[in-house]
Parts: sequence; C-alpha cells; structure tokens
Amino acid sequence: MMAKVQVRELVFEDFISSTEIDQAVKKVADQINRDFEGKNPLLVAVLNGSFIFAADLIRKLTVPCEITFIRYSSYEGTSTTGFVKQLIGAGQEISGRDVIILEDIIDTGITLEKILEEIEKINPASVKVASFCFKPDAFQKSFNIDYIGMEIPNNFIVGYGLDYNGFGRNLPDIYTLVK
Ligand code: IMP
Ligand code: MG
Repeated sequence: MMAKVQVRELVFEDFISSTEIDQAVKKVADQINRDFEGKNPLLVAVLNGSFIFAADLIRKLTVPCEITFIRYSSYEGTSTTGFVKQLIGAGQEISGRDVIILEDIIDTGITLEKILEEIEKINPASVKVASFCFKPDAFQKSFNIDYIGMEIPNNFIVGYGLDYNGFGRNLPDIYTLVK
C-alpha cells in the first residue's frame, strides 16, 4: 500500500523516496565537480523552492564555490496592466562569474527563461542551469538544461522544497497528486 499525505485539502501519494533523491543529487554533483574542475562557480539558487536542493547539492560539491539567492516576485505595480514581476537579488556579484542557476523544478520553462534573460544582462562569464526535477512533456522553451536530477511526468508534486500553496516543502520525500 502506498503511503499517502494530505497537504491542505489535497491528497498526495509516494513518488520519489529520500534515498532516490539523494542519489539524483549525487549524480548532479558529480557532473558539476567534473565540469567545473579548476573553476570557482557561483551557485545562484532560485527561492523559495530550491533551498533544500541547494543545501544538499552544495555539500556534495568539492570544487571551491560560492552561493547566492534570487527570487522572482510579483507585486501589484502602479501600471494599469496590474501585476509586475521583478527579479530580486541578482546583483553585480554575478558579473564575470561562472554561474550555475539552481531550480527545484522546470515545468513550462517560462519562469527560468525570464530569469536567464535578467542574468545575461549582468554579463556572467558563463551560465549553466541545474534543476532537481524536469517535466519534459510540459516544457515549452528551447534553452538548454545542463544538469537534471530527475525527469518526471507532467503531474503535480510536493515535498523536498516543492510546495502546494506554500505547504508541503518540509516533506523529505516527493509525493504526487492522487487523481
Ligand atoms: P514554469 O515557469 O512553468 O517552468 O514553472 C516553474 C515554477 O512552477 C517552479 O519553480 C515551481 O515553483 C512551480 N511548479 C511547477 N511544477 C510544480 C509542481 O509539480 N509542484 C510544485 N511546484 C511546481
Ligand atoms: Mg520555484
């Protein structure tokens, strides 16, 4: 029998165990350690979802590295078009660096495409993307995702930093919505 959890009003079931998660993070870390040998990458973690992936990944990196955090926030702007989105935290420290953007999940790719545009404006030396989860069937964009922990079907998941309406990030395993 599958273990089930309730997050707010929705029921989710077991999908990816913490053991499998750990193996996937290790795989990504091994690739980064190999590709960035002799370099000092700057990890740029996208809050909130990637905080657990970032914390696990950085402890498996052996290349000398730094980390910083950005978030893409929406707020009610003064323009008549309503909501305006702004990237917070992407400062000049990114300029000239070998950047690795860390995401919890890439779904349509719309969010990360906008983040990549903003990061490129600051002129990093190079930009790579590492996402713990990737939904290939939902992806609508063409940018390259350099490091992927897990490819998953186009279903809604929670746990390991991923939320449903803000809840469920604390779950050590990943759960998928029961349909
Ligand atoms: P995208 O712009 O469609 O690629 O969506 C990216 C963002 O949507 C992620 O950073 C997550 O915050 C959220 N997201 C997409 N799929 C899921 C999911 O299955 N569970 C929780 N959050 C998700
Ligand atoms: Mg997110």
